[in-house]
Amino acid sequence: TRCVVLISGRGTNLSAILKAAAQADYPAEIVAVISNKPDATGLQLAQEAGIHTEVVPSKGVTDREIYDQSLLAAIDRHNPDLVILAGFMRILTPDFVAHYADRMINIHPSLLPAFTGLHTHQRALDAGVHIHGCTVHFVTAELDHGPMIVQAAVPVYADDDASQLAARVLKEEHRIYPAAVRWFAEGRLSVVGQRVLLSNEDS
Ligand code: GRF
Repeated sequence: TRCVVLISGRGTNLSAILKAAAQADYPAEIVAVISNKPDATGLQLAQEAGIHTEVVPSKGVTDREIYDQSLLAAIDRHNPDLVILAGFMRILTPDFVAHYADRMINIHPSLLPAFTGLHTHQRALDAGVHIHGCTVHFVTAELDHGPMIVQAAVPVYADDDASQLAARVLKEEHRIYPAAVRWFAEGRLSVVGQRVLLSNEDS
């Protein structure tokens, strides 16, 4: 399974996926990493791992349709089976999302459907929840609302600040994202309405 990973920043999820993909029995291959930001540190991580990297700069491009068309062209040159959003901080146009229907996934740092959008850890603290977490989901036109593949929960402690909570969640992100990619690559995920079914390994 050929995967293209899109990033905007530090790339710790990318790193976790690259580490998994380096295992001989992992069914997915990262063929390219594309960033909209030239200074994303995740680009260096990919280069160190010997992965092809590209920048499709978003700075100065005001028309989302035009940007997404050039991004799509850059992605499709690699013939991916799966597009992995890993901290790619852009809202995507409906045409772009439709083009990758059922073959683009994202990780979001909350237990969806709670806390879509930004600043999820502070908002979880402000809401007083006792359980928080992360979600891997298929990407649909509505932001952070696609069918959910896997979630992981962590406790929220009384003295947590947002960065402590974020670190606890991030550890789980690094566990569930490579797992979700593996399941996709094994052909075990099927989308039925808003639900994702995970079939057994041997069926
Ligand atoms: C993660 O918190 C992820 O859930 C969110 O963006 C952040 C990316 O972090 N979508 P990293 O670049 O993978 O370290």
